Order: sequence, then C-alpha cells, then structure tokens
Amino acid sequence: MAGLSTARIGQHVIAHDEVVSTQPLAHEAAAKGAQEGTLVLAEQQTGGKGRLGRPWHSPKGTGIWMSLIVRPAIPLPKTPQMTLLTAVTVARTIREETGLPVKIKWPNDIFIGDKKVCGVLTELNAESDRVNYLVIGIGLNANSVQADFPEELLSIATSLRIESGTPIKRVSFIQRFCQNFEEEYDHYLRAGFARVKQEWEANSYSIGRWVTVQTISQKLEGQAIGLDEEGVLMVEDRAGQIHKVYSADVNYRAN
Ligand code: BTN
Repeated sequence: MAGLSTARIGQHVIAHDEVVSTQPLAHEAAAKGAQEGTLVLAEQQTGGKGRLGRPWHSPKGTGIWMSLIVRPAIPLPKTPQMTLLTAVTVARTIREETGLPVKIKWPNDIFIGDKKVCGVLTELNAESDRVNYLVIGIGLNANSVQADFPEELLSIATSLRIESGTPIKRVSFIQRFCQNFEEEYDHYLRAGFARVKQEWEANSYSIGRWVTVQTISQKLEGQAIGLDEEGVLMVEDRAGQIHKVYSADVNYRAN
C-alpha cells in the first residue's frame, strides 16, 4: 500500500471488487504461502461471515471488509489474545481517525453507545499444537447511512459516518490501522499480553455490566469484572463466585 510505513502489516494487499467473503480468500492465500501481514480487501461481500455462523451485511462501497493474515509464534491456547489485540487496535484507530468514543464489548465487538460499528472474526489454521496462521476478519461500518442497513439492524448497528456526521477516508483508516496493529503486535510478541489487557479493560463496554452467559454446560448470570492474565473474561455471580468465560455469547441485562 503506497504511503504505508509498516514493515509487514498491509505491505501486500489483495483487493477485490465483489467476493462472497474475504475470509476463504485469505485462507487460500495463506495456504499458498502469502506472507504475514497480507490484507485481503473487498468493496462488497455477497456472503459475509460473522461470528457464530451469523451473516455479515457487507454492501458495496460503504464499509471496510478485510481479512488480515498473521503468523504469530505463540502457543495455541493464546490465540484468542490476538482477537482482543485486534479489537483494541481497531478501537484506537477509530478514536484517532474520528474522535468518536468507542468501547469494546466482549470479546471483540466495537460499540458506539449501544450500537455495534465493527466486528472481528478470527479463524485459526493449526497443525496439532502449532499455529500455522490466523485469518483475522474485520468488518467496519464506515460510511453507511441509515438506508444502507436492513430493517432488523437499524436498532443495533451504526456507522462511523452516522455517528460523526462526516464520511471517513477508508484508505487513510486502513493505513493507520496497519500501523497501529503492527506496533501493538510487535509489542505483544516481545513483551506479552499485559498492555493489550490494560487497554481492553480501559475501553471495555462489558466491565461492570450484568451479563447472562450461555456456555455449553450452563447458563450463568453475573457481573463482568475484568480479564484474567490470559484474556479470559471473569464474571462474578450473585454469590460472589468468579467464573471464567472462554467463548460464549454474552447478553447484557439491566442488573
Ligand atoms: C462479527 O460477527 O462481529 C464478526 C464480523 C466479521 C466480518 C468481517 S468482514 C471481512 C471478513 N469477511 C467476512 O466474511 N467476515 C469478516
């Protein structure tokens, strides 16, 4: 990408007009040896994928729909930390580019007020206990106006343009994201998760809220109190017992 001062992130870009989803294209490129930091971008996705098998609405020209390939030398159990790192980096980039007050909802949704503006979907390719690569999908509603959202999303989704009142420059946003990501990622590889944890908690939508968590084995109600050292959400129930939430859908309640 021209004008980008990173060493790896965003140095190779595979840009498409219309695709089903950038995720499988990034997997394909990674499997063929694409180098770390390669970005697959699309103007439009006809079958955008969200977390938990949900669709991701990705109309033409309004968003930033991209998948980033990384090859971190970390143990398999630490890979969820990369999702938190990405959410922290996107949130920081939004603040720097727009000044909007963004928050991170566990594990990786970016919120403005009570509406989602961006989601992150991390997919892992590993062999036995070795990480080959991660594809980190980022879907950001950048320049959508109300009419771009289907009826069912209007009350829960927003865009940077709706919130700030001005269109954002997508190329400049992506460049700043790449720079922020590389800086945070290099620090994480050198020094570990502590800085990501601190920034995630400082910008959390979840901490202090009462949540309902549906795990495979149980339904848990309690207050989100923070991340542990590994990046797992800690939820304290009414009896004062602390539970660790690894990967589940968290619903929010008044109390
Ligand atoms: C979520 O459910 O919040 C995650 C949404 C991730 C959407 C992005 S858009 C670019 C990449 N390609 C996809 O099909 N999904 C991700």
